[in-house]
Amino acid sequence: MKLRNFFVLVLSGLLLLNMESSAQAIPSITLKLDQKGHAIPSKLYGLMTEEINYSYDGGLYAELIRNRTFQDNARPRQGENIHQPDHWSLVQDGDAKGSILLDRRNAVNNVLTTCLQLDALNASSSSRIGIANDGYWGIPVCPNTTYTASFYAKSNKSAPLTVSIESVDGKMVYAKALSPAIGEGWTQYKLTLTTAANVQPTANTRFVISTNEPGQYWFNLVSLFPPTYNNTPNGNRHDIMKLLADMKPSFLRFPGGNYLEGDYFNSRFDWKKTIGKLDQRPGHPSPWGYRSTDGMGLLEFLMWCEDLKMEPLLAVFAGYTLKGDYLDDPKLLQPFVDEALEEIEYVMGDKSTKWGAIRARDGHPAPFPLSYIEIGNEDGFDNSGSYEKRFNQFAAAIRVKYPNLKIISTVGGKNDWLSGRFSIPKGGPDLIDEHFYRNSIEMQEMATIYDKYDRNGPKIFVGEWATREGFPTTNFNSAIGDAAFLTGLERNSDLVVMHCYAPLFVNVNPGGMQWKSDLIGYDALTSYGSPAYYVQKMFSNNLGNQVVNIETKDIPTQLKKPNTRDSIAGVQPKVIPAMFFSVTKDTNTGIIYIKVVNSTSKVQDVKITLDGVVNVAAKGTAITLRATNVEDTNTIAEPEKIVPITTYVNKLSKRCQQSFPAYSITVLQIQTKK
Ligand code: AHR
Repeated sequence: MKLRNFFVLVLSGLLLLNMESSAQAIPSITLKLDQKGHAIPSKLYGLMTEEINYSYDGGLYAELIRNRTFQDNARPRQGENIHQPDHWSLVQDGDAKGSILLDRRNAVNNVLTTCLQLDALNASSSSRIGIANDGYWGIPVCPNTTYTASFYAKSNKSAPLTVSIESVDGKMVYAKALSPAIGEGWTQYKLTLTTAANVQPTANTRFVISTNEPGQYWFNLVSLFPPTYNNTPNGNRHDIMKLLADMKPSFLRFPGGNYLEGDYFNSRFDWKKTIGKLDQRPGHPSPWGYRSTDGMGLLEFLMWCEDLKMEPLLAVFAGYTLKGDYLDDPKLLQPFVDEALEEIEYVMGDKSTKWGAIRARDGHPAPFPLSYIEIGNEDGFDNSGSYEKRFNQFAAAIRVKYPNLKIISTVGGKNDWLSGRFSIPKGGPDLIDEHFYRNSIEMQEMATIYDKYDRNGPKIFVGEWATREGFPTTNFNSAIGDAAFLTGLERNSDLVVMHCYAPLFVNVNPGGMQWKSDLIGYDALTSYGSPAYYVQKMFSNNLGNQVVNIETKDIPTQLKKPNTRDSIAGVQPKVIPAMFFSVTKDTNTGIIYIKVVNSTSKVQDVKITLDGVVNVAAKGTAITLRATNVEDTNTIAEPEKIVPITTYVNKLSKRCQQSFPAYSITVLQIQTKK
């Protein structure tokens, strides 16, 4: 360490000690209820989603068969002798003999081109032969559950097939059903399988289609669904939807993220290939290292929004891909602009429009609400600087056809280095998207970044952000960083009108995570929210409709040491607050929500003064999320180690004092009458 830096550190330490000792005064917060704060935007809290960490396939999208159209590893890998389809294997009981292979000569149609061929050389009533799928880290088996299986099949032998969900060794069969005799031409078969009331939940299982008759059998689009949220066909996992519904999100930003852009033009989110019947969806490679089935297609995203009463925030592909390809020649870009206009029409056009009619054909005659369109994603990475031109071309075309839509630019921010690499496009975005992924102390420091932001420019959309400590889901220290940052977003919600955390999901099985630090974790059987999830839920469920201006005094502080990058850049240690506040009010009910984040290791008393109210109910509630150790977290094994606890609070008044536990995040609800 350089001598100068050493002295600064010592000095700052002394300063901090000094501050801590002089900060014996009790911290105080005054609520200026005599002033009218700004209205809280109706879409402040939302969700961001993309196919990453097995978010849909192996996650929210309830399909249980992995590699259902045999596209994963559809060509032999270098050095492979026997070409086995990923996640499928041959089942041979007793004397049964045979083989499986991928076959491209028997396409179902021009989308389902690779099928699985089973050559059953020897099989009998006591020796079955078949194909098994291991699912997304197992097939979840629960009691009293009816599963819907379907598959395309054909055979040179007119024999039925048995479909079963069974233990990995085949010894235990949890549910099974028999198909009709399989014909010579491709036919889709549908069966239901029901488990008994007494089965123990398990995912140590496989899905098997088997026969007792020698012959040749071909399969494609093999599918198995458990009951889904609202029983929607091709729908979503119930438990994860419930976690999301509890957050009361107001919008969903989709389909990305990097997933929107793709590595190359032909692996972008090509929305037209994600609609219609499943046998018309080829799927595509996602930039996160695995193929997407596109079972979660454009209409499914929209129906997800509808189910949770969220408005879609649609990001449209903007002619730039992750590997750096871009199109800024207006003529070459125009087909993508047209594609975006058609996509918008698919979402919000009525049945008299071309794409509205196609949406109706797909099963949803009513248009969806849509107010926000984002042009691209993180175009600050586009070193060519082509975004300005691309944005302007998209924005102009969208505004001609849809003048009421608000348009979001991915560059032009001031606080986020990436969006700040280029200035605000001349085409005049309504909002700028800023992204932040930092550690806890950095996020705490950022609680004030919007306090002094220019109010004359576009509004801000914080379209991706998270405190990144702990994985696969984040730990309590992250929850502290998130909560501190959120207090800043709420206080500045005249400017920051929307935000959404990212990434939302992670499948916690080995190989499931591509991005460390996620909000909601799951395996095949269960799911849980991280401490950060509970912060989002506590904050969005206790919001009111108006911000209350506050004044704080004698707030404890902490020292933010420079990280390695900062040290290299000569950034000095900094004293920052260690408690964070945001206050909002519901003008209809008179309830005041005081959010207090205590990132210190000590209980903190706080004096609370409510200026400008006549009456304060003595009894209120406190919802508190806390941990004894900041590295504590929730997991599949301990999903509720850290959850909010609600307690009653007494002796509230216009001037009162409350204690806030060490390492805690609290929402204090106070009933007032004006
Ligand atoms: O949230 C993970 C990734 O972070 C997103 O796909 C991308 O937009 C950002 O860089």
